[in-house]
Amino acid sequence: MTTRRKLVAGNWKMNGLKASLSEVRAMVDGAKALSGVDLSICPPATLISAVASALEGSAIGLGGQDCHAERSGAFTGDISPEMLADTGAGFVIVGHSERRAGHGETDAVVAAKASAAYRAGLTPIICVGESLEQRDRGETLAVIAGQLAGSIPDAAATTPTVIAYEPIWAIGTGRTPTTAQVAEVHAAMVATLQQRFGAAAEGIRLLYGGSVKPENARELMHVPGVDGALVGGASLKAGDFLKIAAACA
Ligand code: 13P
Repeated sequence: MTTRRKLVAGNWKMNGLKASLSEVRAMVDGAKALSGVDLSICPPATLISAVASALEGSAIGLGGQDCHAERSGAFTGDISPEMLADTGAGFVIVGHSERRAGHGETDAVVAAKASAAYRAGLTPIICVGESLEQRDRGETLAVIAGQLAGSIPDAAATTPTVIAYEPIWAIGTGRTPTTAQVAEVHAAMVATLQQRFGAAAEGIRLLYGGSVKPENARELMHVPGVDGALVGGASLKAGDFLKIAAACA
């Protein structure tokens, strides 16, 4: 399996006020001591411009947490990938399980959002992951294969793309899969992507997400096939986020 440069992306979800910009500044400072790992922060839309300013001149990337598939128009409350790109963002998370479950997003919707991200020049971080019921029924690999088939546009072969495996039962629960379980899913994802995209699959980074903390990051980030982390709660504090990044460096 190829070793790719790792990416640690922080998904702030619906957290963060202006006061949180001090954490971003601390991340910028702390990141100077890190090399060999890419970092990115995905704050809520209300903070994205302010975070963009705080990140100016730093190597930390910026991302949105979701986008609409259209460029502009009568879509109250939505944000287009072009708008995210306009703030300086380079990434956008699409198909997070909280969007799939809470907003009824299907694989087709997620694929449309990922394609829209490409159109705007953003790298999509496309999320997949099984529920606990699906895992208990032994369906994990089939569920992930189905989500990959339905949510990843063909253009992933030629356009920067990140995929995040986030088992739903590990998100925000403090419960993580065993390293063997993570390795199994990541190996299956690599095989599926190689089958579909051939050698181009090498360019797709595969993150693990779900209760990644400073305490478990080293173990999880060194599982074969894991190219980084999508971090929720632990990305809100600079100290924790930087420790996770250091575990990858
Ligand atoms: P936690 O790290 O809080 O479990 O969240 C993971 C996640 O959903 C990142 O997108």
